[in-house]
Amino acid sequence: MATTTNCKLLLSDLAFTVKNVPSNYIRPVFDRPDLTDVQKSDASIPLIDLQGLHGPRHSDIVKQIGLACQNDGFFQVKNHRIPDTMINNMLNISKTFFKLPESERLKSYSDDPSKTTRLSTSFNVKTEKVSNWRDFLRLHCYPLEDYVHEWPSNPPSFREDVAEYCTNVRGLVLRLVEAISESLGLERGYIDKALSKHGQHMALNYYPPCPQPELTYGLPGHTDPNLITILLQDDVPGLQVLRNGKWVAVNPIPNTFIVNIGDQMQVLSNDRYKSVLHRAVVNCDKERLSIPTFYCPSPDAVIGPARELIDEDRPAVYRSFTYAEYYDKFWNRGLATECCLDVFKASTV
Ligand code: OGA
Ligand code: NI
Repeated sequence: MATTTNCKLLLSDLAFTVKNVPSNYIRPVFDRPDLTDVQKSDASIPLIDLQGLHGPRHSDIVKQIGLACQNDGFFQVKNHRIPDTMINNMLNISKTFFKLPESERLKSYSDDPSKTTRLSTSFNVKTEKVSNWRDFLRLHCYPLEDYVHEWPSNPPSFREDVAEYCTNVRGLVLRLVEAISESLGLERGYIDKALSKHGQHMALNYYPPCPQPELTYGLPGHTDPNLITILLQDDVPGLQVLRNGKWVAVNPIPNTFIVNIGDQMQVLSNDRYKSVLHRAVVNCDKERLSIPTFYCPSPDAVIGPARELIDEDRPAVYRSFTYAEYYDKFWNRGLATECCLDVFKASTV
């Protein structure tokens, strides 16, 4: 029995048939989520109202964003100008995709992380020792016309609806990146320019219910390797952020996005802004969907601390590198708790 079920490529086709977590998903005892030791405080990460970003509240909002990037590495935004209907549609279409028959979904399957459109499972099945309780569809989505033809064509409106969502999220990212540049005292277009030709990727993360959520992760603690991430989650909790050494649950608020600073922003800001550890845990009863948009530099962009943020008191914390070099390291070393950034520190000779 066990051998037949374990032959499934995707977790979604296995999860509903098992009463126990299969052994390849079980974490060693020291590396399990202690689900009883999680703060559930509602004031977990700041909620920033973007209404008036280009009007009377501009400098106040820029200040709030700067403080959140510095202190929390994470914040939520409302009045972001992405219509509620588009958000609900994106969540619904993702759910529909993961409910398609196995044979239909498998048309997009690949275990090669360099593929620009692929459905896969866990994190990197080729390199990891323990699997994660997750399936995901990963899509490159900027420039759209380069990728949209590779995307699933089922559900029938998938390409059109997801493309519209991506374009809207890109607008939000550009507004935020301008505000973040400004909050660092840089020219408004500084970060935008530093990325060269931008990249935008997105994941549709599907976490099936899990019979023993205390033994495994949806995604273990990690920082995001890109510049900035805009996460949409459904109404099932699961995201947790590390704060002052404690894991804090980020409970869903409908129609808001969660924004987090990625490793490249930490580098550009010369450590003023923090790329913070976060993880996704699973639960016994409910499937969960999350849809992160990862905004990133072009693979050949040279990333390093902004010159304006380096001085005698604050020397460059990182050396310069291409994003391709960084990204390659990220996928190949696995989701290790110590951050990939350490590998790119400037030598302190
Ligand atoms: C990610 C991530 C969190 C979540 O995909 O990088 O952190 O809640 N996801 O799914
Ligand atoms: Ni992440």
